[in-house]
Amino acid sequence: MPTKHFTIFGDPVEHSLSPTMHGYAIEGLGLQADYTKTHLTEACQMRAQFMAHFDGANVTVPHKEAAYAQADEVRGIAQEIKAVNTLIKEGENMIGYNTDAEGFWLSMQRDFPDVKSALILGAGGTAKAIAHILTQKGIDLTILNRSAQRLEQLKAFECYTWENFTPKAYDIIINTTSAGLEDATPPAPLEILNPLLDQTRYAHDVIYNRQTPFLKLAKTHDLPAKDGADMLLFQGVLAFNLFYQNRFDPAEIERYMRKAFD
Ligand SMILES: NC(=O)c1ccc[n+]([C@@H]2O[C@H](COP(=O)([O-])OP(=O)(O)OC[C@H]3O[C@@H](n4cnc5c(N)ncnc54)[C@H](OP(=O)(O)O)[C@@H]3O)[C@@H](O)[C@H]2O)c1
Repeated sequence: MPTKHFTIFGDPVEHSLSPTMHGYAIEGLGLQADYTKTHLTEACQMRAQFMAHFDGANVTVPHKEAAYAQADEVRGIAQEIKAVNTLIKEGENMIGYNTDAEGFWLSMQRDFPDVKSALILGAGGTAKAIAHILTQKGIDLTILNRSAQRLEQLKAFECYTWENFTPKAYDIIINTTSAGLEDATPPAPLEILNPLLDQTRYAHDVIYNRQTPFLKLAKTHDLPAKDGADMLLFQGVLAFNLFYQNRFDPAEIERYMRKAFD
């Protein structure tokens, strides 16, 4: 079998765990393939680089919207999200998918399968992907963001800013803000978060491998909580299977990729 070449496009990309995750799956399944990091500063070069050098790719910030725009065809929920994190080659065409959304869904289903209502904190790209999948799955959804501007892209959903929001009961609170990524800032004022966490059943952060201020606060409310590691893992499992036309058992890919988090 000829060697296949995969990459992740991002700026920055050095921190990405995807090459390690995919590397373990390639090795575990005994495949002829490599997976590299491509630091891409000029988004407009993505399609040309992809078509010249790669069979499949992942796309991370800030290029997911550019990948959507440059794809010859976009499939599945990526059409609604208008952002692409997985590229495959079919003949002369670059095909785009979004596995972030389904990755989050699988993560939530794994530990909190009985969720019926959700509050998303944040209104960036990750919030948009999660909002679309939760709505598609019939979850009653509300979005809360610090400021109004980014909520413009989420007008189809029930949206609030800190100023016009009144805390009530939701099954799960999902933090998609970058608050707490490199500091101790909670994703909303404590006057909002504490009454919310008093009435919720679960907490889910999308930041991974870190006890964020949000997860620490959830712990003080004795809530079952999880970080974003499984979301990252499952989007990788789904992307890997797209690279290989769904040939492999997802549970087997998961088992190999999980080693990247040890
Ligand atoms: N686990 C995974 O697989 C996975 C995948 C993708 C992303 N992520 C993580 O998801 C997070 C968000 O990524 P993104 O691309 O969606 O970001 P983004 O598009 O830049 O959006 C950031 C959001 O965070 C809010 N925010 C930033 N600082 C804040 C603060 N101090 N207090 C309250 N809100 C604040 C922003 O609010 P304003 O609109 O008011 O500025 C905005 O809604 C990152 O931490 C990223 O690492 C994880």
